[in-house]
Amino acid sequence: MMLEVSNLILLTSTTNIRHLNIMPDYETISVEKRDEGIAVLTINRPDKLNALNSKVHAEGVAALDELRKDDSVRVLVITGAGEKSFIAGADIGEFAGKTSVTQRNVFQERSLFNSLDTFPKPVIAMINGFCLGGGCELALACDLRTASEKARFGQPEINLGIIPGGGGTQRLTRLIGETKAMEMILTGDMIDAQTAYNLGLVNDVFPAEELEEKTFALANKIAEKAPIALQMAKEAVKLASRSNLDEGLRREVDLFAVCFSTEDKEEGVAAFLEKRKPVFKGR
Ligand code: COA
Repeated sequence: MMLEVSNLILLTSTTNIRHLNIMPDYETISVEKRDEGIAVLTINRPDKLNALNSKVHAEGVAALDELRKDDSVRVLVITGAGEKSFIAGADIGEFAGKTSVTQRNVFQERSLFNSLDTFPKPVIAMINGFCLGGGCELALACDLRTASEKARFGQPEINLGIIPGGGGTQRLTRLIGETKAMEMILTGDMIDAQTAYNLGLVNDVFPAEELEEKTFALANKIAEKAPIALQMAKEAVKLASRSNLDEGLRREVDLFAVCFSTEDKEEGVAAFLEKRKPVFKGR
């Protein structure tokens, strides 16, 4: 269990984010920081609709490794560059001629899906366009998802003679249920943002021009909370779909107890009693 986390991260795919670039050397992604302790990781291959090639995975994993250690970052937003696409899936160009073993390693070892799965701070996917295949799976590995009315979701792998390999069959099914997950995965059909919202696939849908503002308002709200409590909460909620009830309840009370060893718990309680806003420090 990691206790040093004090930040929330938002994962998004949008344009016009004004930030300080904190990791300038990447080719396929950019990482920027906003004043409020929010980092933005943008998948930056708009000419390929931000398809995930092996370089995106490698750079994304490296960036997440840095961001998880950076206490000045409280929220991560992940997005895709350009106005058309969040992420249109794995880079199909890299599939040709790939063997089973190679592809298994790409998706299993140092993949963005796995790094996000173990990422201790809250992550928000800001989805402004196509969210397909590995893009949908990446969004599913985030904690919260906001979508533009223009977003389209799907698991079209079946059309290529393959199946989802980045968690789609498992996370999508747990999130929206077997009936609709099976339909999406067997047909490869896309659904629109309102349908995704109705299925519980996204937290909110906004007009395209409001997506960024509303998403960052959400990120700011979460970033003001106690970082260790956020981490414990995230871990506990994730347990609900990964353990049986008895195990989940046991772990929940342990994680609850961890919060009682923090300065932020004292601050939260004191602030309530003194009728003021708490200032959490991540300790
Ligand atoms: N991998 C690699 N390249 C991709 C891609 C992907 N998953 N998705 C889009 N691209 C590329 C296209 O090849 C095209 O490149 P080009 O200009 O060099 O030819 C560019 O992105 C623009 O895509 P295009 O198909 O021209 O846009 P569109 O608006 O006509 O269609 C989609 C958009 C998303 C419907 C279509 O691109 C598509 O079906 N993409 C594949 C989605 C998919 O199957 N993902 C799961 C992969 S496992």
